[in-house]
Formats: sequence, C-alpha cells, structure tokens
Amino acid sequence: MHPLLRFSDDLMLDIPSVDNQHKEIVSIINLIIKSLQPPRSNPSSYISQGLRKDVGSNLTGDLGHIPPKSDQYLDELQKLTVQHFLDEERLMKKIHYVGLSEHKREHLMLLAELKSYIRDIKSATEVLDMKNINALKSWFVLHIRSSDTEFSKAFRQAALPEQSESVEAELSSYS
Ligand SMILES: [Fe+2]
Ligand SMILES: [Fe+2]
Repeated sequence: MHPLLRFSDDLMLDIPSVDNQHKEIVSIINLIIKSLQPPRSNPSSYISQGLRKDVGSNLTGDLGHIPPKSDQYLDELQKLTVQHFLDEERLMKKIHYVGLSEHKREHLMLLAELKSYIRDIKSATEVLDMKNINALKSWFVLHIRSSDTEFSKAFRQAALPEQSESVEAELSSYS
C-alpha cells in the first residue's frame, strides 16, 4: 500500500476555514491513493490490465461508460482546489495582503500543475504510478509550506475575525 498523506501539525496555519479546506484536500488525495491500489484478490492482473478497465468493468460490466472512482475523486480534487484558492484570495483581499498578486500567480501555477498530474494519472496504464502519486503529495505540501505559511503570518498580524463564506464569483478565472 502506498503511504497515505498525513496532515501533520506543522501543516496547520491556525486559520480554521483554511485548515479545514486543507484537511479536505488531504482526504481526497488519500481517497485517490486508495482507489489506485490493486485489489488484494488479484493484484498482478490488475496491474497488467490497468486501473481504468478494471474499475470500469467492476462498476458497469461494460467498459468505459461510468468513469472509474479515481477519476471522480480527481475531478473532485480539482473542484475543491479551485474553491479553496478563491476562498484564500478572498481572505487576502480583506486584510489587504501585500503578497496577494504573487500568491494568485502561484495559485494559477499550482492549478496548472494539478491539472497536468490529473491528466497523467487518468491516462496512466499502470495502476501504481508512484511518480504521479508522489508528485501529487508534494504538490499539496509545497502549496502550504511555500506561500500559505507567509499569508497566515500576515493574517494573524491583521487579527481579522475570520469570514469563512465561500466565494461564488470569479470561478471562471480558474476554469
Ligand atoms: Fe491553501
Ligand atoms: Fe494558497
């Protein structure tokens, strides 16, 4: 079993809505990792035939009509990430965070990277593609450690009572 991503204390930023969204993202990444594991009953055939066919046939009895579970989780991860980035940027605007434009640029780059990992994982013919799984895990941890940590310091200094409504507008900028 490929190790799951652990949400350790050092990833906490002390901004409840942001921490909760980060935890949600960890959960969905772990669901993706679990869904990419071969079944215990017949791991070798699973690996040789590839994930998409096996899961597709388990769900439908007819290959390809319903997307495999991992695809659904990957789509959910992209959706959650877009919402999360918008919510963070909204908090940044509220405190007039000086690093907002730079952070926004990083979000755009991170989203582009995520989309590329998702494409690679969806098109993989091998089930256990460690390279892509590890890339996905590093992608998430880097997001918090590189730019979110800086923002959280500014947020605490601003001592703003947190507003955690979700952002409805501007979704199109990430689609
Ligand atoms: Fe974040
Ligand atoms: Fe961020």
